[in-house]
Amino acid sequence: MITVQDLQPHPLDQVHRLIEPGPVILVTTRHRGVPNVMTNGFNMMVRHAPPLIACTIGPWDHSYEALVETGECVVSVPTADMAATVVDIGNCSGVDVDKFEEFDLTAVDGEKVQAPLVAECFANIECRVADTSLVAPYSLFLLEPVRAWTDPTQPAPRLFHHRGDGTFTLDGPTVDLQDRMTKWQYLL
Ligand SMILES: Cc1cc2nc3c(=O)[nH]c(=O)nc-3n(C[C@H](O)[C@H](O)[C@H](O)COP(=O)(O)O)c2cc1C
Repeated sequence: MITVQDLQPHPLDQVHRLIEPGPVILVTTRHRGVPNVMTNGFNMMVRHAPPLIACTIGPWDHSYEALVETGECVVSVPTADMAATVVDIGNCSGVDVDKFEEFDLTAVDGEKVQAPLVAECFANIECRVADTSLVAPYSLFLLEPVRAWTDPTQPAPRLFHHRGDGTFTLDGPTVDLQDRMTKWQYLL
């Protein structure tokens, strides 16, 4: 019989590496007219409809202030071929660098928010901050998508996921188990 003595303890401060959520995303803002972009690994879907996304964005990021002041952002979803650039974007600050210029990103105006879309990303979700009650205790922004876009030239995007230590898992093959989703037909 297996007991916990057979298992290896995992440090609590590394639990996120076991269940690192969703894909690495970019979050863009426009603060006092200046566009900026940051890398975000701590994010999750909270609700299907109306959709709600949660993102942890810390006060050490310039994007935090931009988000608090403007209440708007774009969640841009990069593909695996952009992984190295996305890591570099997350290793500098918009306070020091014009990241759109530095990383050759194309800013595209959205329709509902002032923050720019990133043309190179396969998806862009224009969002408004829906709830700030978890910002003070957890730096957790609840974002309500108000418009979403995908790039039709990237029909089969491969996303990538941070394992918490600078290593990444790339999307692999898709497994279709839709016939087993008997209770959740409305999702199909
Ligand atoms: C792979 C990766 C994931 C990151 N995830 C987050 C995150 O979830 N939340 C956060 O606040 N910062 C995260 N960062 C750090 C920010 O992207 C980084 O502080 C960024 O430079 C902030 O830019 P800004 O000052 O222009 O807003 C991550 C960085 C990397 C490289």
